[in-house]
Amino acid sequence: MNLDHIYQGQTLILGHRGASAYAPMNTIPAFELAVQQGADGVELDVHLSKDGHLIVLHDFTVDHTTVSTGYAKDMTLAQLKELDPGNKFSTAFAGTRIPTLDEVFEAVGQNFRLINIEIKSVNIENTDGVEQATADCIQRHNLQNSVIISSFNPYALHRFRAIMPEVAIGYLYESDTTHTPAGNVALALMDGISYQARHPHHAIIDAAYMESAHSNGYRINTWTVNDPARALELQRIGVDAIITDKPDLMIETLRGAVG
Ligand code: G3P
Ligand code: MG
Repeated sequence: MNLDHIYQGQTLILGHRGASAYAPMNTIPAFELAVQQGADGVELDVHLSKDGHLIVLHDFTVDHTTVSTGYAKDMTLAQLKELDPGNKFSTAFAGTRIPTLDEVFEAVGQNFRLINIEIKSVNIENTDGVEQATADCIQRHNLQNSVIISSFNPYALHRFRAIMPEVAIGYLYESDTTHTPAGNVALALMDGISYQARHPHHAIIDAAYMESAHSNGYRINTWTVNDPARALELQRIGVDAIITDKPDLMIETLRGAVG
């Protein structure tokens, strides 16, 4: 699968949960701000609601981003829509709602070169259906060529790959997986499917890491980079995309002008 049409030889700048330093994470205002700042794309996280709607939310619960409590999977979309993550972030954003992925695609789906959909799933043998719902949503909006699916869960990526072979996949991990037994098991699992990118935490990346990744044919999309000096170093050694809470700062740093 060739992704040159997306990367175009640049280190892409993706807003982490939108432009989340300045607007409530994983909401339409955060994604629209990323567009305004000139980001090449965004990263966002998805879960299924109790009634099977694909919602954009980071945590498994609503505790951190709203004044309510409880697991999103135990709430219907109507119940989730009563919550106000905007007001929790700042009164300036009061009235902002938890969006569905359909709503995000309707608002900004055509504005980015790449949208990174992170599937939040801890399911191993069985699925709640989040992979199928994600594939259906991409299909509805015809965004197969401008999305990449990532997850910390290799089983979720296997399930997604079986449903939608034409969409790019990135494997997410936090530490150098080759140094732990669990990491090696996960990497061996990933050997079982075709995937195009690795999404490591930036702390484990150096020049040797990049050389090895690129010689094995993987794009490297890394997170969460908010420090200009580190961003410049990652760009210098050939990182393919930087996922940041501050797209404006990264654009100024890596491209010399605010977008
Ligand atoms: O996808 C990159 C990053 O978002 C992974 O960690 O916890 O921010 O979803 P988290
Ligand atoms: Mg994420």
